[in-house]
Amino acid sequence: MTAAHIDALMPFELAMFGSEAWTRSGYRAELADSRHRTYVAAEGPEGELLGWAGVRVLADEAEILTVGVVPTARRQGLARQLVAALLDAARAGGAAQIYLEVRVDNAAARALYLTEGFAEIGVRRGYYDHGRIDAVVMSRAV
Ligand SMILES: CC(C)(COP(=O)(O)OP(=O)(O)OC[C@H]1O[C@@H](n2cnc3c(N)ncnc32)[C@H](O)[C@@H]1OP(=O)(O)O)[C@@H](O)C(=O)NCCC(=O)NCCS
Repeated sequence: MTAAHIDALMPFELAMFGSEAWTRSGYRAELADSRHRTYVAAEGPEGELLGWAGVRVLADEAEILTVGVVPTARRQGLARQLVAALLDAARAGGAAQIYLEVRVDNAAARALYLTEGFAEIGVRRGYYDHGRIDAVVMSRAV
């Protein structure tokens, strides 16, 4: 993922992530930390952005930071491919276990991660939307 992909994803970010949306400078800081973070982007045939995802690896633990697929490219297996790329990066970075948080009301993402071998291991109360929405914590071996 490059700076050009950040410009391409910004119009989608707010609609897709609402109160959890990241800013352009937030994404730039993420990409700059290439020692611990790996971001990947998926492009269509014309080079248009279809999806993006990022993972942080710290010692033997990894955390999925974001996964997004633009609405017109959904249900074609792209998120599965992005998650597979993050798992490869986590493995290469020496992680043994990978974690993520997902909104309790995000049925699509919870189904995605369950079918990718993640288990729901806990709940963080009031993690999203200024305390209004819980996060489900999910994890699997890398
Ligand atoms: C969640 C999201 C990333 C899925 O992207 P996608 O490319 O459509 O997902 P895939 O095509 O790889 O789907 C993989 C599996 O996830 C599940 N899934 C995906 N979307 C689903 C939906 N709307 N409803 C139910 N299950 C869904 C299915 O099990 C699917 O497998 P199948 O198509 O063989 O049934 C996408 O909907 C998105 O960007 N949503 C907004 C941002 C977001 O919520 N990100 C995740 C934050 S943790």
